[in-house]
Amino acid sequence: MSKYVHGYSDVEANRLKEQANSLADLIHHDSVWPAGSLILEAGCGVGAQTQTVAPQNPNCQFISIDISEESINKASKLIESEGIKNVEFQTADIFDLPYQDNYFDHIFLCFVLEHLPNPGQTLDKLKKKLKPNGTITLIEGDHGSTYFHPNSKAAQKAIQCQVELQKMNGGDANVGRKLYPMLENAGFKDIIVSPRQVYVDDSNPKLVEGFTRNTFIAMIKGVSKAAVNKNLIDQPSMKQGILDLYKTSEGGGTFCYTFFKGIGTK
Ligand SMILES: C[S@@+](CC[C@H](N)C(=O)[O-])C[C@H]1O[C@@H](n2cnc3c(N)ncnc32)[C@H](O)[C@@H]1O
Repeated sequence: MSKYVHGYSDVEANRLKEQANSLADLIHHDSVWPAGSLILEAGCGVGAQTQTVAPQNPNCQFISIDISEESINKASKLIESEGIKNVEFQTADIFDLPYQDNYFDHIFLCFVLEHLPNPGQTLDKLKKKLKPNGTITLIEGDHGSTYFHPNSKAAQKAIQCQVELQKMNGGDANVGRKLYPMLENAGFKDIIVSPRQVYVDDSNPKLVEGFTRNTFIAMIKGVSKAAVNKNLIDQPSMKQGILDLYKTSEGGGTFCYTFFKGIGTK
């Protein structure tokens, strides 16, 4: 748990909510499963995605799990406060799930595989828990897809620090581009991967605030101390990188990032 690069602070919990809210349409407009499905949401965190997908599928039952009990408590409070009734929360490890094989109709993971040292093995484990013909949805980012105006070497270097830190923790911040081969290697069929690009400019101030500033730049700021402590970058360069990232969210700036959504059938 201590290896989780973003940590479990309230600041990070808010960042996850900003991320989920600003991306809800882009990544979840098609997160709709057959009525009656029993769905495992693995790595639900503070419930930021749960609060979109559960009400969107009122006739499905969700079991949302996370390895962090603290996050599960926050998620549970959030979902209760929204009056959402079709979610049961449990603290559990993806690698040691307390459910029998062939149990779920669907399994859903959002921004989780990127933090795991063995995503292939994770998919093998999860596949066992799916019923025959059950389906899986994976949503991941890919930091290599980030480009912006005005361009800045310092900003690119700051982003690369996040990629390196995540690698040091056993994760892969560029996992989005690998979803198809990962699903294929795990033996899923009918695989479809769709890139979901976020493009942000001044015409959409809500996205400038919600995505560029409060999701992406907040993420880089969140790892800046660790990056300096691990000698990946010096403090002035990190500061410059973050300042330059902010310029992409000020008048005339633009910001692009691509998420990937993969689905497959057991
Ligand atoms: C970036 S957060 C994403 C949370 C949520 N899916 C979202 O999109 O807001 C990744 C989550 O995966 C959880 N996680 C990491 N390893 C896990 C494991 N082995 N079993 C269950 N959850 C895990 C972390 O505790 C964290 O809450």
